Amino acid sequence: MAGPRRILTVFGTLPEAIKLFPLIHALEADDRFVSRVCVSGQHRGMLDQVLEISGVVADHDLDLMQPDQSLDQLTARLLTGIGQVLDEEQPDWVVVQGDTATAMSGAMAAYYRKIPVCHVEAGLRSGNIYHPWPEEVNRKVIGSIAALHCAPTETARNALLAENVDPGIVHVTGNTVIDALQWVTAKIEGEPQLAEGLAELEQRFAHKRIIGVTSHRRENFGEGMQAIADAIRRLAARPEVAVIFPVHLNPNVRKVMEAELGGVDDVAMIEPLDYPHFARLLDICDLMLTDSGGVQEEAPALGKPVLVMRETTERPEGVEAGTALLVGTDADRIVSEANRLLDDQNAYQAMARAHNPFGDGNSAERICDLLCRHS
Ligand code: UD1
Ligand code: UDP
Repeated sequence: MAGPRRILTVFGTLPEAIKLFPLIHALEADDRFVSRVCVSGQHRGMLDQVLEISGVVADHDLDLMQPDQSLDQLTARLLTGIGQVLDEEQPDWVVVQGDTATAMSGAMAAYYRKIPVCHVEAGLRSGNIYHPWPEEVNRKVIGSIAALHCAPTETARNALLAENVDPGIVHVTGNTVIDALQWVTAKIEGEPQLAEGLAELEQRFAHKRIIGVTSHRRENFGEGMQAIADAIRRLAARPEVAVIFPVHLNPNVRKVMEAELGGVDDVAMIEPLDYPHFARLLDICDLMLTDSGGVQEEAPALGKPVLVMRETTERPEGVEAGTALLVGTDADRIVSEANRLLDDQNAYQAMARAHNPFGDGNSAERICDLLCRHS
């Protein structure tokens, strides 16, 4: 191909922004490419904090978030909005990451124009289209369109090969989340004030063991969220335990958590943290309770045990390595597994080993090379 390739990276939510900024940095620094960025604004505040810290500037911002947005309306607006940007930009490649509505719509809009799609974090499969919902199907749709699949691990690559994807276009690159975590950790080392906002809580809980919590999964809304809140209340009743819980901005999460945990001693429900502060929380906690995908990848890299509040995971590598454990959303199970880690030093040490099955921090560069090779 003559001249630099025009790469349009499309994303819209907090985790996509975190996992794509290292690639955008790499594309910008590489004269084989012209990098352009389209954000959908599927998330507003949570997206903007990552753009700010990473210095990524959007060339297009569709600003599509609405309060408590429904999946069908969101997807319809994404498809139209991203389509218009593609007509204007006419890129050589569209890059999408993971499994959100923005990623699936970005891939579809590119497919409708026969523009090749590069899928970052390709090949994750739980085997259950309702766990995670709707992400499992979003991934499969992107997987059937992509011209280049950047699988984070061998397991992910094998999942794609089992679906008869051409092996020549499936590459193991590692997960860019490790690039992002290493970048932010180095940034905090140089500028410690970037992560000093937790100092007051750190002082208040100085003699406690800290459990970090995040929760936002749609399939956990309702009973699952109630059970998670119940488990947190019971764990925080232990005198030596404190909980730090940055609460997702989704109103379906906020309503339940505020009603169930507001005013509970030693449960600090705080606003979502920007990425440097979240990295600090991972650093100071004893263990993480989460239904997040990204946190399942980051916590093992830092040697923090993760109890995963889901029925299945499309990231089995942490579980296989012994640093993550699936506990579902049954309150008794969550409490008993957390208690076991708090009470049994051997059980804790067995899980608290730094382990990095998800990447080595050089994924973005590998993806750049692949984009060149496949052009
Ligand atoms: C979405 C992704 C999910 C990802 C999660 C990460 C889809 C279908 N789901 O979740 O894969 O794991 O993001 O967090 O794409 N809100 C704000 N400000 C924000 C962000 C959200 O107020 O910065 C509120 C809004 O009311 C918004 C609601 O949260 O309508 C839900 O946002 P949405 O993108 O629909 O979240 P999820 O689908 O739950
Ligand atoms: N994260 C953050 N601040 C928070 C909560 C999470 O910066 O308050 C980061 C976290 O480090 C991880 C990503 O957001 O990289 C995970 O996002 P989320 O759990 O919302 O989505 P998922 O990974 O489940 O798609």
